[in-house]
Amino acid sequence: MDRLTLRRPDDWHVHFRDGAMMAAVVPHTARQMARAIVMPNLVPPVTTAALADDYRDRILAVVPDGIDFTPLMTAYLTDDTDPDDLAAGHADGVLTAVKLYPAGATTNSANGVTDIERTYPALERMAEIGMPLLIHGEVTDPEIDIYDREAVFIDRILTPMIERLPTLKIVFEHITTADAVAFVEGAGDNVAATVTAHHLVINRNDIFKGGIRPHMYCLPVAKREAHRLALRKAATSGNAKFFLGTDTAPHAVHEKESACGCAGIFSAMTAIEIYAQVFDEEGALDKLEGFASLNGPRFYGMPANDGTVTLERRSWIVPEAIQVDGGTTIMPFQAGEALGWRLAD
Ligand code: DOR
Ligand code: ZN
Repeated sequence: MDRLTLRRPDDWHVHFRDGAMMAAVVPHTARQMARAIVMPNLVPPVTTAALADDYRDRILAVVPDGIDFTPLMTAYLTDDTDPDDLAAGHADGVLTAVKLYPAGATTNSANGVTDIERTYPALERMAEIGMPLLIHGEVTDPEIDIYDREAVFIDRILTPMIERLPTLKIVFEHITTADAVAFVEGAGDNVAATVTAHHLVINRNDIFKGGIRPHMYCLPVAKREAHRLALRKAATSGNAKFFLGTDTAPHAVHEKESACGCAGIFSAMTAIEIYAQVFDEEGALDKLEGFASLNGPRFYGMPANDGTVTLERRSWIVPEAIQVDGGTTIMPFQAGEALGWRLAD
């Protein structure tokens, strides 16, 4: 098979940032995806429906003319989130979901949740109204090894949360472990997961291959090979609980290549092509449309997109950098490497 036509895909997890960076990255996602769930970890974070509404306008202003793209907004959960504001934002169509960052877990999570108990009024309301909770599932306990933080999160936070709120819709974001795969497979239909392109491609050795590779560093950090293989199996299995969410997370090159480099991999430019390559390698191209275009909308209770995109089997080289107005650059995931699939114009 050398050409593959899919319903237009969606990206259920993106970071667009703001200002010049946003203007540089939004067109890449909008070219590939019909809709995207936009993460709220700006500085300061997007904690309310009103802030999300303003942010949505700023995003729409930088979508290139002639491209039909819908940003789906999220609110950043804090210890003090007002359940009424979430419910009103959801009812108005401004807020699609709520994002839970444990405080200190990742980039711009300092205002995140410090005490999960305090969020239960918001979570209870969300369960009542069917508003999904999107979870960065890593504990922040410094005693826990960084490679174990996702698995420990399942035991300490996620399992008790689901026992207490068995109907809450939960997306376990950017899963990186066989433990998370097994957990999601064993949970009810209200629990699903996104899988990034990069976690299907790299394992933890890639972060240290021949030297330290800051552009391979993201959170949750890539795990051992056995986990990568479990993710590939889950994503390509046809199980509707797993769907596309790139976690594309741009940072300026100088902020990644630093003594304390930022976490995040910018994959928006090549996302659907990388997923196509992975599904091809796994002999599962027939499952790509489900993963990329059908499972996500089904979970979120939205229609699949009407249009289609076509991918061609054709070798091309990922560009080395994209420029941001003001002089900074962003390095795409797999810059300078060959990909075997390309989105047709
Ligand atoms: O690698 C990451 N980058 N993981 C996250 O959870 C956040 C993201 C970012 O915002 O840069
Ligand atoms: Zn993210």
